[in-house]
Amino acid sequence: MSIELLSQRCRLRYFSERDLPIFTRYRGEPAVARFQSWSSYSLEDAQQLYQTLAKTAFGKPGTWFQIAIADKQSDSLLGDCALHFLDDDRQVEIGFSLAPEHQGQGLAQEVVTRLLDYVFTEMGKHRVIAITDAENTPAKKLLRNLGFRQEAHYIKNIFFKGRWSDECLFACLESEWKEQRALPQSD
Ligand SMILES: CC(C)(COP(=O)(O)OP(=O)(O)OC[C@H]1O[C@@H](n2cnc3c(N)ncnc32)[C@H](O)[C@@H]1OP(=O)(O)O)[C@@H](O)C(=O)NCCC(=O)NCCS
Repeated sequence: MSIELLSQRCRLRYFSERDLPIFTRYRGEPAVARFQSWSSYSLEDAQQLYQTLAKTAFGKPGTWFQIAIADKQSDSLLGDCALHFLDDDRQVEIGFSLAPEHQGQGLAQEVVTRLLDYVFTEMGKHRVIAITDAENTPAKKLLRNLGFRQEAHYIKNIFFKGRWSDECLFACLESEWKEQRALPQSD
């Protein structure tokens, strides 16, 4: 299975080596790094991730797969989303980041909608989850706008960047997604 999806303004595709300088720059921006596992991000980090991705089969249980969000016209990198294929192979976790200059324009809503259509219809997944820091208001808002339900708010469950933080678990079922998108339900 491979990824090449189009939305109104974007193309979701595999990463290429020429994306790495832009990827490195926005991953290092405080507005992107704040709720992520890294604080600073180097070109070597990006190259290492790229090499790992090149060896990872898309859809392999237990792995994360990073997908490039590119401008449909210029093909330049705007951000990325990721699928974490869980050990239960009907369930995935999603993640997403946009370079700061491309936030606030509805791009995440647009591309994650396209990705979820693919995940629920073509990949046949049953449930998609997302885990966010409880203080990550834009991510929580995006997930609610996409129709995800908040299933949990964990209290000080993760030691993160020097302190205990809360995380929220969001989820969406295939049946819920297809109902809100008016897509045919599977049997
Ligand atoms: C979370 C994140 C991906 C959201 O990206 P985004 O593109 O800004 O999110 P949305 O698609 O929801 O759009 C945001 C805004 O654009 C507006 N918008 C929607 N369509 C639009 C359009 N066609 N033109 C202009 N604006 C539009 C939305 O109304 C929304 O505005 P609002 O907040 O005032 O309601 C982004 O904030 C990010 O990259 N954060 C850093 C990384 C991160 O923390 N990731 C999550 C880890 S779990």
